[in-house]
Amino acid sequence: MNIKLTTQLPKTHTQKILKKEANDKDSSCLVVLIDNKKNILASEVLSDYQERIEQLIDVSHFSGKACETVTDYALAGDKKTTKENPLQLLLVGVGNVDKLNNSVLQKVAKTIYQSTQKRVSSITVAVGDALEENEFGQFALNLLASTYRFDKYKSERATPVLSDIYLLADDNLQPALDFARSVFVGQSLTRDVANEPGNICFPAYMAEQAQELGKKYSDVLKVTVLGEDEMSTLGMECFLAVSKGSVREGKLVIMEYQGKTKFTAKNTNSAAKVTGGLKAIADKLPLKGNKKASKVVEGHNGDNVTNDDAPIVLVGKGVTFDSGGISIKPGAAMDEMKFDMGGSAAVLGTIKALCEARLPINVVGALACAENMPSGEATRPGDIVKAMNGTSVEILNTDAEGRLVLADTLCYVQRYQPKAIIDVATLTGACVVALGHVRSAVFSNDEDVLFELENASAQSGDLIWHMPMDDDYQSLLDSPIADMQNIGGKGAGAVTAACFLSRFIEEGQAWAHLDIAGTAWVSGKEKASTGRPVPLFMQYLKNCAEMAS
Ligand code: BES
Ligand code: MN
Ligand code: ZN
Repeated sequence: MNIKLTTQLPKTHTQKILKKEANDKDSSCLVVLIDNKKNILASEVLSDYQERIEQLIDVSHFSGKACETVTDYALAGDKKTTKENPLQLLLVGVGNVDKLNNSVLQKVAKTIYQSTQKRVSSITVAVGDALEENEFGQFALNLLASTYRFDKYKSERATPVLSDIYLLADDNLQPALDFARSVFVGQSLTRDVANEPGNICFPAYMAEQAQELGKKYSDVLKVTVLGEDEMSTLGMECFLAVSKGSVREGKLVIMEYQGKTKFTAKNTNSAAKVTGGLKAIADKLPLKGNKKASKVVEGHNGDNVTNDDAPIVLVGKGVTFDSGGISIKPGAAMDEMKFDMGGSAAVLGTIKALCEARLPINVVGALACAENMPSGEATRPGDIVKAMNGTSVEILNTDAEGRLVLADTLCYVQRYQPKAIIDVATLTGACVVALGHVRSAVFSNDEDVLFELENASAQSGDLIWHMPMDDDYQSLLDSPIADMQNIGGKGAGAVTAACFLSRFIEEGQAWAHLDIAGTAWVSGKEKASTGRPVPLFMQYLKNCAEMAS
């Protein structure tokens, strides 16, 4: 789908207007947004059509409530009007303009796409100055996202006629549109990999996807994949406790996006080049750091890197299928556990979006990929393993596996001495109970990171909600036999999961955890990945890049 800014109203040919199922390439439609007071949005650019629009509102009793539509094929109009303004008109209601949030814009965008995609090859949406920059960005992304489809397994696929979207709006919105396009490209990858079934998308598949990006964007992206032997050398027993029940090998995928020069130049000797000797990587990475003590720290390749170039690390849960393991899940809707890699899919997509948008910032993406299966080699409830940082964990429930793969990955990535670590995971059913499918949960040990994420949430409309992590919750993880156990009690399941992760974050390391169990995919008839929280991440990273420059 092409999307462009324009200052020109579309022109088309009179004779072809009347065909509903036109497959003619020139057919075009002007989309006009109307609020619930019957005001024409962007009326300043629509003066040529004002009369016709007002007539149409009148004769169709159009009220302007959100997603209401009426199409004028110029059937009713007199021949003269049609000749002078040879154009299809689609009126779309947006409801109360004061309540025009991302959710409404998403529905409006979907309505526009669905009512035109089979009929015309191009649409021009009159936006004018009706939307401020953030809203415009959300609208553009929603329009693009509404064109996404995952139909590769369908024998019969409908191809849309619509190929061009023009947004009639000011030139100065070009950067916002470019950014939305980058986010869309990344988010579509997120949705693609997450929508793949577990027999196609397993840890090695995730690694391949990352490596393909590494090839495509080789100037800014380096990708390293650690297999189980390497993880074993690093002492990642928590991670391996999850992957060992599966015949699919677990993979820890590290993606280094180097949008800031220094990081790029001094990173040539990084993990990417060391094969077969992960000890060597571990040795080259800086150890537990006194990073607040000095401005200049030793980079993970032994060079000096200023803190300004320290990366933000995104860690994604990548459980490509979560059967629960020996603590096996009930059968109902177990298929949806193919989406349990939604966190790592979001990190992968964000890295791709970064490569497209070329944000001047350093970001490391870590995908913790494993399949959680029951087998003769699977972890038993009661097994005790040691995480990479030495913490012993009694695994009471093998279905609380996400926190196990994340624990070791969090230990690992701290060797980058990141500015901030944000992990993202379809971690708990309890989070869905708490927040449903509207907001993702955010937990954090750092006020600044939390503030920035909440800002990005408001700006992008990819919403989050702050959840508590008081010390008093921590004791729920006490084990009688090991340093801790992998589940808490009956209550506050999303909180105890976050508390579990917090044990693997070193003192002073800024960190946030997003639980996207309720927001990563939609269930039921429309079962599909949402691609969240790629828009949130991209907004956050864009803001970070802007603050640093
Ligand atoms: N992947 C699930 C969480 C989940 C469940 C996400 C349903 C979305 C929908 C996770 O691995 C899991 O099974 N968590 C358990 C934890 C429990 C055993 C402490 C859960 O939420 O039941
Ligand atoms: Mn589970
Ligand atoms: Zn899971």
